[in-house]
Amino acid sequence: MTADIAVEKLSEAEAERELARLAEVLLRANTAYHGEDAPDISDADYDALKRRNTEIEARFPHLKRADSPSDVVGAPVAEKFDKVRHAVRMLSLANAFDDDDISEFDDRVRKFLNVTAETSLSYTAEPKIDGLSLSLRYEGGKLVQAATRGDGEVGENVTGNARTIDDIPETLTSAPDVLEVRGEVYMSHADFEALNERQAQAGEKTFANPRNAAAGSLRQLDSAITKSRPLRFFAYAWGEVSEPLSTTQMGAIERLGKFGFSINPETKLCTDVEGMIAQYRVIEQKRATLGYDIDGVVYKVNDLTLQGRLGFRSTTPRWAIAHKFPAELAWTRLEAVDIQVGRTGALSPVARLAPVTVGGVVVSNATLHNEDYIAGRDSKGAEIRGGKDIRVGDWVQVYRAGDVIPKIADVDLSKRLDDAVAYEFPTICPECGSDAIREEGDAVRRCTGGIICPAQAVEKLKHFVSRGAFDIEGLGAKQVEQFYADKWIAEPADIFRLKECYGSGMQQLKNREGWGEKSATNLFEAIDEKREIDLHRVIFSLGIRHVGESASKLLATSYGSWAALEEALTQATVGEGDAWDHLLSIDGIGAVMAASLVTTFQQEAERASIDRLIAELSVKDAISTAPTDSPVAGMTVVFTGTLEKMTRAEAKARAESLGAKVSGSVSGKTDLLVAGPGAGSKAKKAADLGVKTIDEDGWLSLIEGA
Ligand code: IVH
Repeated sequence: MTADIAVEKLSEAEAERELARLAEVLLRANTAYHGEDAPDISDADYDALKRRNTEIEARFPHLKRADSPSDVVGAPVAEKFDKVRHAVRMLSLANAFDDDDISEFDDRVRKFLNVTAETSLSYTAEPKIDGLSLSLRYEGGKLVQAATRGDGEVGENVTGNARTIDDIPETLTSAPDVLEVRGEVYMSHADFEALNERQAQAGEKTFANPRNAAAGSLRQLDSAITKSRPLRFFAYAWGEVSEPLSTTQMGAIERLGKFGFSINPETKLCTDVEGMIAQYRVIEQKRATLGYDIDGVVYKVNDLTLQGRLGFRSTTPRWAIAHKFPAELAWTRLEAVDIQVGRTGALSPVARLAPVTVGGVVVSNATLHNEDYIAGRDSKGAEIRGGKDIRVGDWVQVYRAGDVIPKIADVDLSKRLDDAVAYEFPTICPECGSDAIREEGDAVRRCTGGIICPAQAVEKLKHFVSRGAFDIEGLGAKQVEQFYADKWIAEPADIFRLKECYGSGMQQLKNREGWGEKSATNLFEAIDEKREIDLHRVIFSLGIRHVGESASKLLATSYGSWAALEEALTQATVGEGDAWDHLLSIDGIGAVMAASLVTTFQQEAERASIDRLIAELSVKDAISTAPTDSPVAGMTVVFTGTLEKMTRAEAKARAESLGAKVSGSVSGKTDLLVAGPGAGSKAKKAADLGVKTIDEDGWLSLIEGA
């Protein structure tokens, strides 16, 4: 035991061992405490252990573990806040990384609006604050609610905490009756340093960066703690408003400033791409002296009518983009390459690195993508990094951009050891011993074990319980691993049969280490609560290759119900037919994703497993956010020929925003064909089928005023 040795006297090896022990003991104590079991250690002992952990970490920062108890604030706090459905979704931004991306953004905007390069189009440019977004709802000039972004649709109610922030006014004068102000909560560098110092002295958790500190401080159950933390707020956007704030982005921001909000002084109006890039350079130059973290520059179309016409893709506006600053870099040694097997069988190489600080965060793992990447080739066989391969023992350059997993940018060949050997990528799954093969055109080698591969099964289950999927309280990755190892669950449906199969389930669970009567009851209740579930969560939970959260939402709103989706996917054939065309007509669903969906639904074992799951559930129909009172709501519309007053993309986006479905082909299900000059076979087919056909002007007068 090293617990009696003074921290200053610990050797590195002893420190590492003790940190591992402390992580285990403190985690167990946490679980026991929050599961409301009898805590196995006293509060005083718990505090003493936590303090010792912090002290050892302060002396050996590079030994800080990924599961360090200093980063655990107890039970997942997020579960304890009330949920708030945002009146208007809180979106994120598409990213751009270089100047060309900005001209392309401007091109896309112009193309969508059908304006030439000569037409003037202005954009605001403002710093992208690295904090967390918050929506503040004012009614009758009074702050009535503050909510975090959450998944964009439902956030956490943090009203009490937001009221403690000085930059957030309690009352507004001359504001619209309903006004949702959106912006970023952040912490200045100076306040962050001082907070960490205070925390360390008190033996409390320190934060890795100002953003984590801001998030941790805002999401406190005790508002008194939030109040003691120096949080700030910049307003830069809005949600629901009972009357427009202005006709321009700049005007609206200035009005928010007049209401008493802090608005960013670096916000500028730019009249062209050159001006935007010049402002990016100005802000980049000032970055180090601003006194708070920013990670890029956000450009927004200034004219709010044009913003309205441009509208949104599934989760990002077409009228804005974030121009990110280049990633931060550091050199370190590659100690090993591990292979992780994912839920789709992909063998992913992970670099284990000698810990190094990159942009304020200790990094000890990085992705190596796939075997070509390690070998110094891209997916088409062209050289990357000048063709340099990556070998264990090499000095490698690591970079981090925002929240993404660190990556390896370069290798220093001058430091390569003479006996370093090229990395040999496994052709056998390290988890189940099945062959791992690479299909033509696929950059990834995949385990062929399917459900017999424990890694795939466990990863599927972990995905199933993850935040955007079933998000079952008390059933996280760790519990899933345990239950799988004990053969309690093998597939998602088993989770819903846990209680009944082990009717005795309760008996068995409460006798397990880390579980008690209360936590077992809570778990079964949490599972039952999720039997009634949103369609998009079910689609996402299936873990189908290429089908992420936003695609799942698109599919859910497009098909409306599980029955409709299931019928369509069962009938569809890859590459042809109405069901296939319909899938592809959904903006955001491409051929690769569509093929992945269709083949999954046609694989027997996979399908049987999905059916077993659905039998346990009551899947809620998707609530369409599209209006139901427009003259075209619910109609299936096809556009063909040349449109002269708007682009095809704008016509489609507008029709969808009015609640119509836009399809690429005419069929018995088509309600309306809008045909411009040059319409060919579609117009003929519509005539044959007796589908009503109108021209562009007819369409515009139909939707006028809607
Ligand atoms: S506008 C509809 N402006 O960046 C667009 N976002 O990556 C709403 N952010 O979730 C966002 N500074 O938390 C906007 N000046 C700024 C911003 C900003 C920081 C954050 C925001 C958003 C995220 C997207």
